[in-house]
Amino acid sequence: MNQLFEEISFVENPQFEGIIGDILLRKYSIVENFFSDEEVCILRQSLLKKHEENTFKKAAIGNRVNETIVKSIRGDVILWMDEQRADDSERLFFNKINNLVDYLNKTCFLGILHKEFHYALYPEGTFYKRHLDTFQNDDRRKLSFVCYLNEDGWSPENGGELVLYLNNDGQETEKVVYPFPGRVVIFESQILEHEVKPVNTERLSITGWLKTR
Ligand code: OGA
Ligand code: MN
Repeated sequence: MNQLFEEISFVENPQFEGIIGDILLRKYSIVENFFSDEEVCILRQSLLKKHEENTFKKAAIGNRVNETIVKSIRGDVILWMDEQRADDSERLFFNKINNLVDYLNKTCFLGILHKEFHYALYPEGTFYKRHLDTFQNDDRRKLSFVCYLNEDGWSPENGGELVLYLNNDGQETEKVVYPFPGRVVIFESQILEHEVKPVNTERLSITGWLKTR
Protein backbone atom coordinates (compact mmCIF):
# COMPACT_ATOMS: atom_id res chain seq x y z
CA MET A 1 0.00 0.00 0.00
CA ASN A 2 2.72 2.42 1.03
CA GLN A 3 4.88 1.42 -1.88
CA LEU A 4 2.02 1.89 -4.29
CA PHE A 5 1.40 5.34 -2.89
CA GLU A 6 5.04 6.30 -3.33
CA GLU A 7 5.08 5.19 -6.93
CA ILE A 8 1.98 7.17 -7.73
CA SER A 9 3.17 10.24 -5.86
CA PHE A 10 6.53 10.46 -7.68
CA VAL A 11 6.38 13.26 -10.20
CA GLU A 12 9.29 13.68 -12.57
CA ASN A 13 10.87 17.11 -12.30
CA PRO A 14 12.46 18.20 -15.60
CA GLN A 15 14.73 20.79 -13.95
CA PHE A 16 16.10 18.29 -11.44
CA GLU A 17 16.45 15.64 -14.15
CA GLY A 18 18.51 18.14 -16.14
CA ILE A 19 20.82 18.73 -13.17
CA ILE A 20 21.32 14.99 -12.64
CA GLY A 21 22.01 14.38 -16.34
CA ASP A 22 24.58 17.21 -16.47
CA ILE A 23 26.41 16.03 -13.36
CA LEU A 24 26.58 12.43 -14.62
CA LEU A 25 27.88 13.65 -17.97
CA ARG A 26 30.40 16.33 -16.91
CA LYS A 27 30.50 16.66 -13.09
CA TYR A 28 28.73 20.04 -13.03
CA SER A 29 25.45 21.69 -13.88
CA ILE A 30 24.56 25.32 -14.45
CA VAL A 31 20.91 26.19 -13.88
CA GLU A 32 19.38 29.51 -14.92
CA ASN A 33 16.47 30.76 -12.82
CA PHE A 34 16.79 28.10 -10.14
CA PHE A 35 15.22 30.88 -8.08
CA SER A 36 12.85 33.38 -9.70
CA ASP A 37 13.79 37.08 -10.02
CA GLU A 38 11.54 37.82 -7.07
CA GLU A 39 13.06 35.08 -4.91
CA VAL A 40 16.58 36.26 -5.76
CA CYS A 41 15.59 39.77 -4.74
CA ILE A 42 14.22 38.54 -1.39
CA LEU A 43 17.34 36.46 -0.71
CA ARG A 44 19.62 39.35 -1.68
CA GLN A 45 17.79 41.68 0.75
CA SER A 46 18.17 39.05 3.45
CA LEU A 47 21.92 38.78 2.83
CA LEU A 48 22.42 42.57 2.76
CA LYS A 49 20.39 43.09 5.94
CA LYS A 50 22.45 40.51 7.84
CA HIS A 51 25.66 41.97 6.45
CA GLU A 52 24.64 45.44 7.67
CA GLU A 53 24.05 43.97 11.11
CA ASN A 54 27.75 43.05 11.04
CA THR A 55 27.14 39.35 11.48
CA PHE A 56 29.49 38.25 8.70
CA LYS A 57 32.93 36.87 9.54
CA LYS A 58 36.11 36.55 7.53
CA ALA A 59 36.02 33.17 5.87
CA ALA A 60 38.56 30.64 7.12
CA ILE A 61 40.54 27.95 5.40
CA GLY A 62 39.82 24.56 6.85
CA ASN A 63 37.00 23.53 9.12
CA ARG A 64 36.38 24.66 12.67
CA VAL A 65 39.24 22.46 13.92
CA ASN A 66 41.71 24.15 11.64
CA GLU A 67 40.68 27.77 11.42
CA THR A 68 43.32 29.95 9.91
CA ILE A 69 42.33 33.02 8.03
CA VAL A 70 44.47 33.24 4.96
CA LYS A 71 43.77 36.41 3.08
CA SER A 72 46.10 35.45 0.27
CA ILE A 73 43.83 32.48 -0.48
CA ARG A 74 40.33 33.85 0.01
CA GLY A 75 38.89 37.24 0.89
CA ASP A 76 35.16 36.69 1.22
CA VAL A 77 33.13 37.22 4.37
CA ILE A 78 30.50 34.66 5.28
CA LEU A 79 27.57 33.92 7.57
CA TRP A 80 26.46 30.33 8.16
CA MET A 81 22.70 29.77 7.75
CA ASP A 82 20.69 27.96 10.41
CA GLU A 83 17.74 26.08 8.97
CA GLN A 84 16.20 25.67 12.43
CA ARG A 85 16.04 29.44 12.81
CA ALA A 86 15.24 30.27 9.20
CA ASP A 87 13.22 33.39 8.52
CA ASP A 88 10.68 33.49 5.65
CA SER A 89 13.23 34.16 2.94
CA GLU A 90 15.52 31.42 4.21
CA ARG A 91 12.63 28.99 4.43
CA LEU A 92 11.95 29.68 0.77
CA PHE A 93 15.59 28.80 0.10
CA PHE A 94 15.61 25.61 2.15
CA ASN A 95 12.26 24.43 0.71
CA LYS A 96 13.72 24.37 -2.75
CA ILE A 97 16.98 22.80 -1.56
CA ASN A 98 15.10 20.12 0.35
CA ASN A 99 13.02 19.31 -2.73
CA LEU A 100 16.24 18.85 -4.67
CA VAL A 101 17.81 16.70 -1.94
CA ASP A 102 14.71 14.48 -1.71
CA TYR A 103 14.73 14.09 -5.46
CA LEU A 104 18.45 13.21 -5.59
CA ASN A 105 18.04 10.68 -2.81
CA LYS A 106 15.02 9.07 -4.49
CA THR A 107 16.41 8.90 -7.99
CA CYS A 108 20.20 8.65 -7.54
CA PHE A 109 20.60 6.92 -4.16
CA LEU A 110 23.12 9.59 -3.25
CA GLY A 111 22.42 9.31 0.46
CA ILE A 112 22.52 13.04 1.19
CA LEU A 113 21.95 13.26 4.94
CA HIS A 114 23.43 16.61 5.84
CA LYS A 115 23.72 20.01 4.30
CA GLU A 116 25.44 23.26 5.19
CA PHE A 117 25.05 26.68 3.61
CA HIS A 118 26.46 30.12 4.12
CA TYR A 119 25.89 33.58 2.72
CA ALA A 120 29.02 34.94 1.08
CA LEU A 121 30.05 38.46 0.19
CA TYR A 122 33.21 39.18 -1.75
CA PRO A 123 34.26 42.80 -1.18
CA GLU A 124 35.90 44.65 -4.07
CA GLY A 125 39.38 43.29 -4.77
CA THR A 126 38.86 39.87 -3.18
CA PHE A 127 39.02 36.40 -4.72
CA TYR A 128 39.26 32.73 -3.82
CA LYS A 129 42.30 30.95 -5.24
CA ARG A 130 42.05 27.58 -6.96
CA HIS A 131 40.96 24.86 -4.54
CA LEU A 132 38.97 21.69 -3.98
CA ASP A 133 36.07 22.01 -1.53
CA THR A 134 37.01 18.81 0.27
CA PHE A 135 40.34 20.22 1.45
CA GLN A 136 38.44 21.48 4.50
CA ASN A 137 39.09 17.98 6.01
CA ASP A 138 35.53 17.04 5.23
CA ASP A 139 35.23 14.23 2.72
CA ARG A 140 31.49 14.01 3.30
CA ARG A 141 30.99 16.93 0.96
CA LYS A 142 29.48 15.39 -2.15
CA LEU A 143 27.95 18.25 -4.12
CA SER A 144 28.87 21.92 -3.99
CA PHE A 145 26.08 24.41 -4.61
CA VAL A 146 26.46 28.12 -5.38
CA CYS A 147 23.55 30.49 -5.95
CA TYR A 148 24.35 34.01 -7.14
CA LEU A 149 22.43 36.92 -5.67
CA ASN A 150 23.95 39.84 -7.57
CA GLU A 151 21.88 42.72 -8.93
CA ASP A 152 20.27 42.53 -12.35
CA GLY A 153 22.58 43.73 -15.06
CA TRP A 154 25.70 42.16 -13.55
CA SER A 155 28.43 42.61 -16.16
CA PRO A 156 31.29 40.21 -16.93
CA GLU A 157 33.55 43.26 -16.45
CA ASN A 158 32.75 43.12 -12.74
CA GLY A 159 35.05 40.09 -12.55
CA GLY A 160 34.36 37.46 -9.92
CA GLU A 161 33.81 34.70 -12.42
CA LEU A 162 33.90 31.14 -11.18
CA VAL A 163 36.36 29.02 -13.14
CA LEU A 164 35.85 25.26 -13.05
CA TYR A 165 38.89 23.20 -14.02
CA LEU A 166 37.69 20.23 -16.03
CA ASN A 167 39.59 17.18 -17.08
CA ASN A 168 38.73 16.00 -20.57
CA ASP A 169 40.71 12.84 -21.34
CA GLY A 170 43.76 14.09 -19.48
CA GLN A 171 43.51 17.54 -21.05
CA GLU A 172 42.63 20.39 -18.67
CA THR A 173 40.00 22.83 -19.86
CA GLU A 174 38.39 25.77 -18.10
CA LYS A 175 34.69 26.44 -17.80
CA VAL A 176 34.05 30.11 -16.97
CA VAL A 177 30.81 30.85 -15.11
CA TYR A 178 29.68 34.45 -14.62
CA PRO A 179 27.79 35.05 -11.37
CA PHE A 180 24.54 36.24 -12.94
CA PRO A 181 21.62 36.60 -10.51
CA GLY A 182 19.37 33.55 -10.19
CA ARG A 183 22.01 31.29 -11.64
CA VAL A 184 22.97 28.20 -9.67
CA VAL A 185 26.05 26.06 -10.16
CA ILE A 186 26.20 22.55 -8.75
CA PHE A 187 29.33 20.43 -9.04
CA GLU A 188 31.07 17.39 -7.60
CA SER A 189 32.96 18.62 -4.53
CA GLN A 190 35.54 15.85 -4.53
CA ILE A 191 36.45 16.12 -8.19
CA LEU A 192 36.34 19.66 -9.56
CA GLU A 193 38.98 22.21 -8.61
CA HIS A 194 37.78 25.76 -9.08
CA GLU A 195 38.49 29.39 -8.25
CA VAL A 196 36.80 32.75 -7.94
CA LYS A 197 38.61 35.44 -9.94
CA PRO A 198 39.14 38.87 -8.33
CA VAL A 199 36.00 40.98 -8.16
CA ASN A 200 35.78 44.67 -9.05
CA THR A 201 32.37 45.06 -7.43
CA GLU A 202 30.82 43.49 -4.35
CA ARG A 203 29.71 39.94 -5.23
CA LEU A 204 26.87 38.16 -3.41
CA SER A 205 25.99 34.48 -3.16
CA ILE A 206 24.81 31.59 -1.06
CA THR A 207 27.20 28.66 -1.10
CA GLY A 208 26.73 25.25 0.40
CA TRP A 209 27.34 21.55 0.37
CA LEU A 210 25.21 18.44 0.25
CA LYS A 211 26.90 15.82 2.37
CA THR A 212 26.79 12.09 2.93
CA ARG A 213 26.99 10.60 6.43
C1 OGA B 1 33.53 28.32 -2.23
C2 OGA B 1 33.53 28.61 -3.68
C3 OGA B 1 32.49 29.62 -5.61
C4 OGA B 1 31.69 30.83 -6.01
O1 OGA B 1 32.92 29.09 -1.47
O2 OGA B 1 34.12 27.29 -1.83
O3 OGA B 1 34.30 28.02 -4.37
O4 OGA B 1 31.45 30.99 -7.22
N1 OGA B 1 32.64 29.50 -4.22
O5 OGA B 1 31.34 31.63 -5.15
MN1 MN C 1 34.91 26.20 -3.43
